Amino acid sequence: MNVNVLDTALIQHELSILRDSSTGGIAFRKGLQHLGRYFAYEISKSFPRIKRPIATPLDTAVGLFIEGLGRIVIVNVLRAAIPLVEGLLSVFFEARVGIISAFRGEAPPFPVQIDYVRVPKIEPEDTLIVADPMVATGSTITGVLKVLERYGAPKRTILACILTTPVALDRLERAFPGLNVYTSGIDNSLNDQGYIVPGLGDAGDRAFLTL
Ligand code: URA
Repeated sequence: MNVNVLDTALIQHELSILRDSSTGGIAFRKGLQHLGRYFAYEISKSFPRIKRPIATPLDTAVGLFIEGLGRIVIVNVLRAAIPLVEGLLSVFFEARVGIISAFRGEAPPFPVQIDYVRVPKIEPEDTLIVADPMVATGSTITGVLKVLERYGAPKRTILACILTTPVALDRLERAFPGLNVYTSGIDNSLNDQGYIVPGLGDAGDRAFLTL
């Protein structure tokens, strides 16, 4: 499994705004959108590039193109991923989009419930990007990735999460050794409700002002 911790200044700046408990809901939602866009810039670096000549109005130039932008499936794990996916789509605007409603029960062992799945067929040439901002124990995302296997096998699978933990990464590594994780931070602790500590609180409640 590949883990990419995105420590660019812009990403860490946005993450710090999200972590701050004095950041209000609107700014929080905007911050998730911004991070989606910046994550897309980072993920775009992993696609193959080709050079080919192009005719400018005046002469010819060597153009550089990213291959595979038309073969992306983004899966939105409701609901906190909605703003993150908006940001990803501002860059990967040709992507097909799937939606999964998945959530964990309140208390350990946090049973995962998946009750709405609408995902396009996933083809062998596709890059699958699964967006879930907070991967705490890894149980929800493990359930989601297992469900997605029924829709086809992509060329590669990327998990885009704002924060995760060593516990979740261990679990994912065992279940999905080929997974590529893009995250802006790995926090060490989980509290007894399964929240990431120090984390940023409940991302869905903060983004949708349902606190
Ligand atoms: N989901 C959240 O929104 N926050 C956490 O810390 C963990 C899961």
